Amino acid sequence: MKVQGKDYRTVWPGAHHSVDMIDQTKLPFEFVIHNCPTHKETREAIRTMIIRGAGAIGAAAGYAMAQAFAEAPGINFWRYAEEARGYIDSARPTAQNLFWATNRVFEAATIANRNNIAANIAMMEAQKIADEDSEWCHQIGIHGNSRIERKPNGASFNIGTHCNAGWLAFSNWGSALSPAYVAHREGKNITVYCDETRPRSQGARLTAWELQNEGVPHFIVPDNAVAYIMSKGVLDLFIVGADRIARNGDVANKIGTLEKAIVAARYHVPFYVAAPTSTFDLNCPTGEKIPIEQRTQEEVLFQTGPNRAGQIEEILVCNRGSPAINPAFDVTPAELITGIITPKGIIKPTEAEILGLFR
Ligand code: MRU
Repeated sequence: MKVQGKDYRTVWPGAHHSVDMIDQTKLPFEFVIHNCPTHKETREAIRTMIIRGAGAIGAAAGYAMAQAFAEAPGINFWRYAEEARGYIDSARPTAQNLFWATNRVFEAATIANRNNIAANIAMMEAQKIADEDSEWCHQIGIHGNSRIERKPNGASFNIGTHCNAGWLAFSNWGSALSPAYVAHREGKNITVYCDETRPRSQGARLTAWELQNEGVPHFIVPDNAVAYIMSKGVLDLFIVGADRIARNGDVANKIGTLEKAIVAARYHVPFYVAAPTSTFDLNCPTGEKIPIEQRTQEEVLFQTGPNRAGQIEEILVCNRGSPAINPAFDVTPAELITGIITPKGIIKPTEAEILGLFR
């Protein structure tokens, strides 16, 4: 997608086996490219959410794995790569794409009989993951667009979304926002309502920034206003992304997704999840088994942004001394999900298991 007229992906190979990525912790206030010289820095960028969102985490993890192969010493080559895989996998626990990507790059490299060939294959596989991710997300957009109507008299079709599952959360296009981008480029009149998504405000910061860049009409919605706007019939559709989808169709996604799904069911707003097949974990029987990341209380207690003079500052926004909880994800049961928009088409959540055929 374009930033200031130039095409970008979220993450790409840099010079001398390094990895470059858009620093999402600085957006929307500053557009900065972050360079990771080794797999350790790339892993750290995932952990600290310089790069975040399931697909982008997967693409970065794939590149990190390839970096590890490029760095590995001649002796203990495979032990170095194996240890690096464990280290990269420990960056964050919930998004399935991370483990899927490191495993895929590692397995691809094992067919090589020479170390330098293994390193080349690893980089090619990582690149393929990023390219496929972009293509899959575009396909998600095409399928999801079929649920976006042209309303009579040119009225706006209103789409709600939570967190950021746009192009910043993938290599390109995004999952939940991709249908909106396709619809907008086709000339459909749409408006996207993006939840703030406290505590890191991925909706208010990242989704709003993306939509503004693409010229898509949108509003930022306070997290606690979604029930109100749904009760007033404002939203025609709600689409979220996913960090992991269990075999029974339960979906782990950004904290707050569950309550949006409950409210959508109450007010009969179709509630879709959009995800590539790399987000499905067929080894995970139900949502209860999905590990939920617990993040630091600092993210709840403090907020960062520019002051009136434009300098970035961190300020306390809660009562000094009160502790906070910060679960990063929740699980929405399959029964609350109207459908899952995949690159292959739209399925019922309970059909998730058959996605094994798509790999
Ligand atoms: O903690 P994050 O920002 O990495 O969380 C990921 C998300 O943005 C979402 O939950 C998103 O909807 C799915 S990722 C495509």
